[in-house]
Amino acid sequence: LPEGSKQMIEAHELLRKFYHHLLVNTKEGQDALEYLLNRGFTQESIDRFQIGYALPSWDFAVKLLEKRGFSLNLISKAGLVIQRENDETYFDRFRNRIMFPILDHQGNTIAFSGRALGGEEPKYLNSPETQIFNKSKILYNFHLARGSIRKQQQAVLFEGFADVISANRAGVENGVATMGTSLTEEHISLLKRNVQAVTICYDSDKAGIEAAFRASNMLSKAGLPVRVATMPDGMDPDDFIKVHGEEKFRNDIIGSSATLMAFKLIYYRRGKNLQNEGDRLQYIEEVLKEISTLDKAVEKDLYLRQLANEFSLSLDALVQQINQLAQASG
Ligand code: CTP
Ligand code: MN
Ligand code: MN
Ligand code: MN
Ligand code: MN
Repeated sequence: LPEGSKQMIEAHELLRKFYHHLLVNTKEGQDALEYLLNRGFTQESIDRFQIGYALPSWDFAVKLLEKRGFSLNLISKAGLVIQRENDETYFDRFRNRIMFPILDHQGNTIAFSGRALGGEEPKYLNSPETQIFNKSKILYNFHLARGSIRKQQQAVLFEGFADVISANRAGVENGVATMGTSLTEEHISLLKRNVQAVTICYDSDKAGIEAAFRASNMLSKAGLPVRVATMPDGMDPDDFIKVHGEEKFRNDIIGSSATLMAFKLIYYRRGKNLQNEGDRLQYIEEVLKEISTLDKAVEKDLYLRQLANEFSLSLDALVQQINQLAQASG
């Protein structure tokens, strides 16, 4: 552990407890608590995920940590406070925000993400990368989910905090999140060490579907079987649970996730009108390219036949074209 890491974690642990206390037990935290309860968070999930509230103060953390003997230089390196440019003084990074503690895989608090209560930007303010927080290695909630992940040999991958927390309330305890960043090779190797398959459940908006496409390809290339769960109407998992309920989420979304190829068919269909000849030909070519990457002859045959059936094409023509594609790509 690099010099100072232990104290940095201690500072995070102390703040996590204070932020949680401020949210749950104080008048100052009342609006934030109401905001969370209105969104469908429960007292139980607020406790389980140790959600908190940072006061609209410039020096709450500065004063508290200084009083407890932490050096300002250390806690600024830890990303909790920021040094002013014109003088030597420091101010709190997180002010008037709902605080989501980010734990490492051993359960140490190593960073925070603070959500605005209204429409302020950024929506989530995050700890910077520090010697104890490397975003490309950390999956949110891996620490709590580990048992369930190992037992099921499955993990569900979400985009964000609210998705993991609502899914957990809905009984999906093996959920983790990349916190808005793209999935990295380090995340993948962590998953590979712990599960046999992954279900991606990103937001069903354009950004989420594109990210799911990239992540599913990466996981599958790494040898991890992938399924993809999508929601209707651009919703994210947290929205879906709020509108349609926990049972529907478990059964109709997680339980009915698509195989990778089925997801790709949906993906290539988006924004196309298959009644239109040009769109139809483009779709067929994209799907053929996908099929040509499959290893198993039986799978190739299956999807070629499906495609032939759907568009009343001869299997021969499709086989011929897929061979041409294979030659063209060397
Ligand atoms: N994120 C971030 N910084 C932002 C926006 C998002 O770090 N300015 C991360 C957060 O971890 C967030 C995730 O990306 O949870 C997914 O982003 P988004 O879908 O926009 O947010 P939601 O999780 O849906 O947030 P909420 O439901 O609270 O609006
Ligand atoms: Mn509590
Ligand atoms: Mn999103
Ligand atoms: Mn979202
Ligand atoms: Mn959301």
